[in-house]
Parts: sequence; C-alpha cells; structure tokens
Amino acid sequence: MTRARRAHLVTFGCQMNEYDSGRLRDLLCAHGWQLTEIREEADFIFFNTCSIRAKAAQRALRRLEELRPLKKNNPSLIIGLGGCLAEQEGRALFDQAPWLDLVAGPQHLPRLPDILDEILTDRSQIALIGPGETPAWSQANLEAQGAKPDTFNSTAGPLLDYVTIMQGCNNYCAYCVVPYLRGPELSRPAGEIVSEIKGRVAAGSRDITLLGQNVNAYGRGRLDGEPDFPGLLRLIADTGLDRLRFITSHPRDFSPELVNLFGDLSSLSESLHLPVQSGSDAVLKAMGRGYTRRVYLDLIEALRVRCPNLTLTTDLIVGFPGETEADFDESLSLIETVGFDAMFSFKYSDRSNTVASSLPDKVLEEEKSRRLIELQTRQKVITLAKNLAHLGTVLEVLVERVSSRYPGQLTGRARNYKLVHFDGPPELIGQLVSVRVIEAFSTSLRGERVEASR
Ligand code: SAH
Ligand code: SF4
Ligand code: F3S
Repeated sequence: MTRARRAHLVTFGCQMNEYDSGRLRDLLCAHGWQLTEIREEADFIFFNTCSIRAKAAQRALRRLEELRPLKKNNPSLIIGLGGCLAEQEGRALFDQAPWLDLVAGPQHLPRLPDILDEILTDRSQIALIGPGETPAWSQANLEAQGAKPDTFNSTAGPLLDYVTIMQGCNNYCAYCVVPYLRGPELSRPAGEIVSEIKGRVAAGSRDITLLGQNVNAYGRGRLDGEPDFPGLLRLIADTGLDRLRFITSHPRDFSPELVNLFGDLSSLSESLHLPVQSGSDAVLKAMGRGYTRRVYLDLIEALRVRCPNLTLTTDLIVGFPGETEADFDESLSLIETVGFDAMFSFKYSDRSNTVASSLPDKVLEEEKSRRLIELQTRQKVITLAKNLAHLGTVLEVLVERVSSRYPGQLTGRARNYKLVHFDGPPELIGQLVSVRVIEAFSTSLRGERVEASR
C-alpha cells in the first residue's frame, strides 16, 4: 500500500486566514491527505499568507525562501502560496520564487485538492487569483467534496473556536488593502452559520468568535427573511454555547440595537474589539472611517452604560500620511479617555492600490517609530491599571490547558477575555471555574479557585 500524501500548512495573518486554513485542512483530509507538522516529510507545503503591512508580506517571502533547498532535495514536493499576498502578487511570485508550484488567492482555496491532482499529473505552475467561488466555504461545497459537517472541525472541537459569517469588505478605508484582496462583502446564509455553530457546540466548543472584516454589516443587501447582525446574534444565542464574541465590528455600523444586546444576550461576552484607528477627526476623515472622535466616544459610553464590565480593545495606526504632532496627541488623549484594556498599534505602511499610498505628506519612518513607542508606553500603563482593577474580583474562567509557563497551574480565559492562571488539576480543562484574582500582571491575571466547576 502506498502511504497517504502528507500536507504541511502554515498560516500567517488574521483569524480569517486561520479559519480558511482550517477548512482547507478539512478538505484535504476528505481527499485522503494527512497533515504533518514536519515540513521535511511533506509532499505539499502551503503558506496561507497576509499582506496587510509590508512587514507581513516580507515575512512570508523570507519563509518561502527557506523552502528552496527542500525543493532541490525533493523535486516532487509541491509548494503553494495562498491567501492575501498570493492575491496581491499573482503570477509575479513565480518569477520571484521559481520553486513555487501554486499561487492561490483566498477565494480559490476550495479548489486546491483538485488542483493538486492536476499539478501532480503535469507539473505545471498554476495561479488562481481574482474572483473565485462565492462564498468560498459554502456548506454545500464542503459537503460535495466529502467533508462532513462533523468533520468541519477536524481538530476535534477546540473549546474556543471561530466561525466566518461573511467574507470581503466594502469599506475601502484609505490605508487598507483588504477590499482589493478579499473582494466585496458577502454574507453567509444565517441557517448555514447556525448549523455550523450547533455542530461545533456538539463537538465541545463553548466559546465561539464570529469572524468577518466588518461583521456588523452582516446581511447588508440581504434577501427577504435573512436577519441583520443583531438578528443573527439572537439566533446564535439559542445554540447552547456559553460564550459568543465577534471580530471585527466597525464603529460606523454599530447600531443602537447592537449596543442593547450587550447585557441582554446572556451568552454575549463582556469583551469587544472596536478599532478606532486614530483619535484625530482630520485623520479619521482622511482615512474614510465615517465617524468622528465624538461619535466613537459616545458609542463607548453607551456600551458601558449597558455593560459596565465590558473590556475594550482597539487597533490604532500612527503616522498616517499628513498626521501632525497635534493629530498624534489626539490619539494619545483618546486612549487615556477610553482606557482600553489592550491595543494593537501599527506604523502606517504604504500598500499598493490604496488611496493613502498616493497621499502627500508621508510621515518619516523614524517619526512613526517614535510615535509608536510613545503610544505603546502609555498604553502599557493603562493596561496594567485595568488589570490591577480586577484584584479581588471573581471571574468565570473557561479552562483551556495546563500552563506552559507556570508548573501546576491551569490557564484559561474569563468572559471578558482576560487570560487567567490558577492552581488546579488538569481534570478541570474544558470546564467553567470561578476564580478570585489575587495578582495582576501586564498580560495576565493570577487567581485562586473559589467554588465548584460546571
Ligand atoms: N477589518 C478590520 C481589521 C483590518 S486589518 C477593521 O476594520 O478594523 C487589522 C488592522 O491592521 C487594522 O485595524 C489597522 O489598524 C491595521 N492596518 C490595516 N492596514 C494598514 C496599513 N496599511 N498600515 C498600518 N496598519 C494597517
Ligand atoms: Fe480594511 Fe477598513 Fe475593511 Fe477593515 S473595514 S478590512 S480596515 S477596509
Ligand atoms: Fe492579512 Fe488578508 Fe487578514 S491581508 S489581515 S490575512 S484579510
């Protein structure tokens, strides 16, 4: 008997890519492939890449370079590069890396099992980019290829899981390359999402994050009878899961109805990632974000009235073209005013095709670095203060694993998504445990168990 062909998948970038890689894994398994962690023993190596900033793209290309000697040693190895960088660069990648066999944009991943057979037969280089199957991961498509709903999650029911509810983005924020790479917004039918989530819950998932580039635009231009985003959240709340969250929502599309669901839907977790991008009205306008600083602050206030314990995280860009020192000060003051629990901050990076790439008044690299360090230094203090405020409180922790850093301790997340360590036996993994916080650090909390688990 010949041995099964083995695939080695590496994922870069955001959770959308993680989700895509997960579905690709399911499909390959349905087509008789096995997965391997060891790239030297693989017949197919696939990089699912990101292109959001220049650095992300460079990282993937460096890693691709490392595969060159492997191909030399094993000419029958198939090397593929997929995801957003593939969509952006297309066939040009074959000139850059002639050892590459396959380039596939995000919308083409469902075709890979068949394409791999083609490459095995005639060893041609194949590029699949541009609009593809929409939606890429329809249940019908997966089932037609033999991936059964109960195998969609081939990693056997992780406690915390992700489900894509829409693909693409129509926002065209001035700095962002995603709409060019992921295509227009397309919402998955609600029935399909609910059935996928029920499957995950049955397989052991207790905490599910809904994914999309702009989830609160879910259902825009929807068919009769299909829900909008708050309607979808209500449907999902009945699937028996313990915790529900979503990334990423856009402040402009955050309706009062959505605000009201916080505190109303018991499974909706007290944590929200709401990218602000800048604290300056002039910069927000140039970015095309469609809200002002005041609108953002009012939204946060309304959310905190509904849900006083809400933890808030954000994304922020420094050095957008034309950002003055005064604009940057507005970002500094905004993070103090809001008091985010954590922040992901980035130096503006020029991306081809975007509106911002042709704007004048680019900020110097060293100035961007200085602003980033200043912003991050301030945020560190805020994050620690937020964590210290949890001292003495009791949190419901979903236990995920034995701590890799602290022997004898377990690690899990609270409903507000704070990372918590506490002493306890491994039998508690998968359970909800009440933990009193006794120590706070910059990225986690330490606590002690106070009562029985469920
Ligand atoms: N759809 C989400 C996330 C998009 S990408 C949203 O709208 O928020 C994740 C983050 O990368 C963005 O929030 C933004 O802060 C950052 N980002 C995107 N393009 C960038 C660029 N060209 N330079 C620097 N940061 C960028
Ligand atoms: Fe990019 Fe803006 Fe769309 Fe987010 S909402 S993916 S930042 S264009
Ligand atoms: Fe990167 Fe594409 Fe996600 S550019 S951030 S992998 S949508």
